[in-house]
Amino acid sequence: MHGTQKEGLEVLLPAKEIAGRVEILGRRITLDYENKPLILIGILKGAFMFLADLIRKIDLPMSVDFMALSSYGNSTKSSGVVRIIKDLDYSLEGHHVVVVEDIVDTGLTLNYIYGHIKSRGALSVKICSLLDKPGRRQVAVPLHYKGFEIPDEFVVGYGLDVDEKYRNLPDICKLVRASE
Ligand code: IMP
Repeated sequence: MHGTQKEGLEVLLPAKEIAGRVEILGRRITLDYENKPLILIGILKGAFMFLADLIRKIDLPMSVDFMALSSYGNSTKSSGVVRIIKDLDYSLEGHHVVVVEDIVDTGLTLNYIYGHIKSRGALSVKICSLLDKPGRRQVAVPLHYKGFEIPDEFVVGYGLDVDEKYRNLPDICKLVRASE
């Protein structure tokens, strides 16, 4: 961890452990989608780093698209009311889709995205989330590919933020207390 950013943080998942797990997920997706037209949909902003690493471990021809959402919650709590800021650029017809998310907490956000994407004509839709906080689930969502289960702690780094900070940290860290 570097510089002044580490104050108030405690490493939960070091970069090396994340890289190992991402490689395994990439290999599994490679095996599952051989000879199938595949699109990975990254959910911005939190999943950008995970998606960038994951697609480099998928040894298949594939495309990438993005959705950006805003949730009407505060910075550490999801309200489940979601607005689409950026929708998909392409039709999903004739393609298999893997939705790539950073973390599933209550499940409300992903439940909304899953419904939206399933209505767009894909051959199949699966979900890949780097992190899962099962202790806080309010809506059941199918997690077909999962990186790590974590306890009910607010985490930052590796794309995840609090108030737009800490996304650049290579490790995933617990927020012990908010720093200025
Ligand atoms: P859910 O709708 O409660 O499942 O929340 C999902 C979204 O809330 C994620 O995509 C994140 O953007 C955000 N979120 C939930 N927990 C955390 C966390 O521990 N750190 C950073 N963002 C989080």
